[in-house]
Amino acid sequence: MSKKLILGADHAGVGLKQELSEVAREQGYEVRDLGTHSGDSVDYPDFAHEVANAVAKEANALGLLVCGTGQGMSMAANRHLGIRAAVCADVFSAKMARQHNGANVLCLGARVVGPGHAAEILRAFLGSSFEGGRHERRVRKIEPEG
Ligand code: RB5
Repeated sequence: MSKKLILGADHAGVGLKQELSEVAREQGYEVRDLGTHSGDSVDYPDFAHEVANAVAKEANALGLLVCGTGQGMSMAANRHLGIRAAVCADVFSAKMARQHNGANVLCLGARVVGPGHAAEILRAFLGSSFEGGRHERRVRKIEPEG
C-alpha cells in the first residue's frame, strides 16, 4: 500500500507547504495537496478540517498542516475523532509524537521554523512509527470515551 501524506496550509504556510511536498515525495510519499494554493488571506480552520476529515477516513494516511505557528491548525484538527495533531518545532518532539503519541498529523509554524529545520522535522515524523505496547492504552485514553 502506498504511503500517503495529505497537506493543508493557510496563506502563512503556503510557501513552506510547497517546499515540504517535495521532501515528502523524496521520502516515497504520495502527496495530496488540499490547498491553499496562493498567498491570498484564508482561514486556517477550513484547511485543518478538510485535512483532518481526509486523514480520519483513509487508513495509513498522515497529514501535514502549516500555518504561521502551527497552533491554530492543531487546535482545529484535534477536534476530530481519531486525529492526533502535534505541533512540533524540533526533531525530537516529532519523533516522540509518532512513537509515543501515535500522532497522525504534523503541524508546523512557517513563522517559527525555517525551511531546512522544517524539512528535518518532517523527515523525523515520516520516518518514525507508533511503538504500541504501553502507549496503546494511553493513546486510547486521549479520546473522551477512550
Ligand atoms: C495568520 O496570520 C495566522 O494567525 C495563522 O497562520 C496561524 O498562525 C494561526 O494559528
